[in-house]
Amino acid sequence: MNDENPLKPTILAIFGGAGDLTWRKLVPALYDIAQDREMPPRLSIIVLDRVDLNDEDLRKKLHEGVKQFSRHGKSGKDHWENFASRIFYQKGDFKDPDTYETLKKRCADVEKEWNEKVQCIYYMATPPVMFGVIPKYLGKAGMAEDREWSRIVVEKPIGYDLDSARQLNEVFKQNFLESQIFRIDHYLGKETVQNILAFRFANPLFEPLWNRNYVDHIAITVAEDIGIGNRGGYYDKAGELRDMVQNHLMQLLCIVAMEPMVSFDANEVRNKKVDVLHAVRPIPRDAVNKYFVRGQYGIGKAGDQEVCGYREENGVNENSNTETFVAMKLFIDNWRWQDVPFYLRTGKRLASRASEIVVQFREVPHRSFPQEDRQDWLAARLIILIQPDEGIILRFQAKEPGPDVMLKPVDMRFDYRESFSGPFPDAYETLFTDLIQNDATPFMRADQVEAAWRILKPVLEVWAEEKPANFPNYEAGSWGPKEADDLLRRQDHSWTTPEKFIHS
Ligand code: BG6
Repeated sequence: MNDENPLKPTILAIFGGAGDLTWRKLVPALYDIAQDREMPPRLSIIVLDRVDLNDEDLRKKLHEGVKQFSRHGKSGKDHWENFASRIFYQKGDFKDPDTYETLKKRCADVEKEWNEKVQCIYYMATPPVMFGVIPKYLGKAGMAEDREWSRIVVEKPIGYDLDSARQLNEVFKQNFLESQIFRIDHYLGKETVQNILAFRFANPLFEPLWNRNYVDHIAITVAEDIGIGNRGGYYDKAGELRDMVQNHLMQLLCIVAMEPMVSFDANEVRNKKVDVLHAVRPIPRDAVNKYFVRGQYGIGKAGDQEVCGYREENGVNENSNTETFVAMKLFIDNWRWQDVPFYLRTGKRLASRASEIVVQFREVPHRSFPQEDRQDWLAARLIILIQPDEGIILRFQAKEPGPDVMLKPVDMRFDYRESFSGPFPDAYETLFTDLIQNDATPFMRADQVEAAWRILKPVLEVWAEEKPANFPNYEAGSWGPKEADDLLRRQDHSWTTPEKFIHS
């Protein structure tokens, strides 16, 4: 190994690498890492797929993706050519043992050529149906045997429900150790999501308040303004509960609600997250519709443009009952959070793209100021902006300047773009860096995936049995169905319109 660069020589084999994910996300992220940070001095990217391609055509195609999606896309031709010289194509059928034998031989040849031991990362960028197939063939070919130097990567969705997730995890475990399995939820690679841990546990200020004694409720919003684009075929079978809630929203819930970790060790952090999921109060089947709201968008607007309803999207059944919006109320039964409502909502074709977590603190025990002194009283609130704006706002009461005591909410804010000069890595860059360094902290463990499915199991079952009465029930470009507001109103709470930083 090179003494100056601790990163091991690496072969990254991307199964299904001629597809969209590789072109749009993976290769642009790898390219950005190569420009900004350290890459293994020896790296070979082998793209495997069934289509006819050669190295040159593949590189050309990937270059287009880099130009469009990488932060350094416009950088010089030399940079790209240098990077592209590490990318190779291998045509193969993933159900044919020869594909794996050929890959194995290629890896052995590379190792011989470099005269160094090489770590092999097998990345499944394929449709989910292949997730249960590829690990078996890798296992049979003996390509997972080196427990320290080989690993497998799989993207969400892991399974379709609790049973299929268990089966999939079983296949992984028959061929790889848990320490070799890296399950990606790209939200865990987002800077703002990772910063929640730093904010909570690297500052003594908020943690003493971060519990049922001071927090009234917590609301998590992950809103998207886009529809389902050309993904109708996949999405109509999945729906928002599987596509977003089981993974991204559950991860955010874990990070906001978890206990402090003792160390930044991958299993320690993940244990604390799993504890949260285990403590989520189970939802009885007959209470599903009391705690969960589903919605589907109809015709409406995206900005100034008229847009079609979900049922008119390509690849979607015209009578589809698939939900494109979910809101829920959960409780976490433990000492810290007993009876504090956690509200979560997510949806497609909402009024704007905005993800944030609102920690609403309790009212002061006694309001000493006379009624007329308070203009618009608001108990203190902490708002963690995840995207597109990135930062934290603390909203609290202040006295307005002047001879009279007049109170008004004001903001203290931290804005990433003001406090740091960048670069601001994309989630996949962060995840790749950890993957190459064999750090599993931001990846999902089997028990976490299964615990998240377990919470949603009654909801999936009841919604599959009971057809929604009123779909479509929200207009594209709105904040979702009115039932989502009613869900909070019962406890005198309400969703807040996501915050935006106004940059001068
Ligand atoms: C994906 C979902 O996991 O996350 C998509 O499958 C969704 O439906 C996307 O649009 C959202 O990711 P981001 O990073 O744009 O918030």
